[in-house]
Amino acid sequence: MTIHDFFEAEYSDSVNQQNIWAVLNAITKAAVSVSDDLKKAALLENVLGSQGGQNVQGEDQQKLDVIADLAFIEAFKSCGAVTGIGSEENEAFVSFDTETSKKADYVVLFDPLDGSSNIDVNVSVGTIFSIYKRLSISGESTDLGDFLQVGSKQSIAGYVLYGTSTMLVLSWGEGVHGFTLDPDTNLFILSHRNMKMPLSSRLYSMNEGNIKECEPGVAEYIAYCQSQENDFNGPYSGRYIGSLVADFHRSLIKGGIYIYPNVPAAPKGRLRLLYECNPLAFIAEQAGGMATTGRKRILEIEPEALHERAPLFIGSKNMVEKAMSFIS
Ligand code: AHG
Ligand code: MN
Ligand code: MN
Repeated sequence: MTIHDFFEAEYSDSVNQQNIWAVLNAITKAAVSVSDDLKKAALLENVLGSQGGQNVQGEDQQKLDVIADLAFIEAFKSCGAVTGIGSEENEAFVSFDTETSKKADYVVLFDPLDGSSNIDVNVSVGTIFSIYKRLSISGESTDLGDFLQVGSKQSIAGYVLYGTSTMLVLSWGEGVHGFTLDPDTNLFILSHRNMKMPLSSRLYSMNEGNIKECEPGVAEYIAYCQSQENDFNGPYSGRYIGSLVADFHRSLIKGGIYIYPNVPAAPKGRLRLLYECNPLAFIAEQAGGMATTGRKRILEIEPEALHERAPLFIGSKNMVEKAMSFIS
């Protein structure tokens, strides 16, 4: 069953169905184009490597960060249902400001390419997105308030994983569903219906290079995972891809916990609340998992700035609860 047919059959809000489908359709089109670029990246000129600049976060921008950003912006602009976007790669939100888009109902926040340090080494990367209903008045330009909504208000959250296959995983608040791109037809086909995250597993995921710099509770939890005196009576396996979206996808299917805590180099964590933490938190909860800062539910944070960061403890419910029990 194609994503279109599944959405038409299962999405229950009939008033908004057509408009929000236009947004999803834009995502599938841009995802196909980015997926193609990634597959051929090493064979194309001007696709691999650094762009030579930094984004607003002070991080090196890869050429593919920019290519993916432009592909998604263009798709959202032309779909007619999006009034503006916020992207990890752009300092300010973009208001599309055409007559049609001023009347459009939705804004999208996205990380065009997550895990971009992995592009040049042929390792999985992804696009993460959040769709919200605008709060500003229809007919006027979108404003910052449309983008700074609490994560629990997401209409749809999802990600595209460009892995050994390209997959779109999403939730509109009624479970989590996964679609695999059929490269022969360029259609996303339902392959994972009603995904559920195992309540626990023997897998943990963290950049352990930071372990000595984290607050003591994080190191104590990791020591628990590595000890003989844990719920499995022996060490867990460590798995860290370095692309959050890929590490999260593994947790969704096999169970596990991913932790990116505060560190001195990133005092509020490294990951961005609006482009990374919120969409994945929404999916985690819809799949029976959990997402917190170590102290507080991610989806209840009132955002104050577009590029705000948050510490992230995300994955299997029992594991996140256990990790939090070590944090004072
Ligand atoms: P992005 O490529 O969008 O900047 O995100 C990178 C993120 C995330 O994907 C990953 O888990 C984390 O940064 C890796 O950070 P470290 O290299 O500090 O482990
Ligand atoms: Mn990212
Ligand atoms: Mn990114």
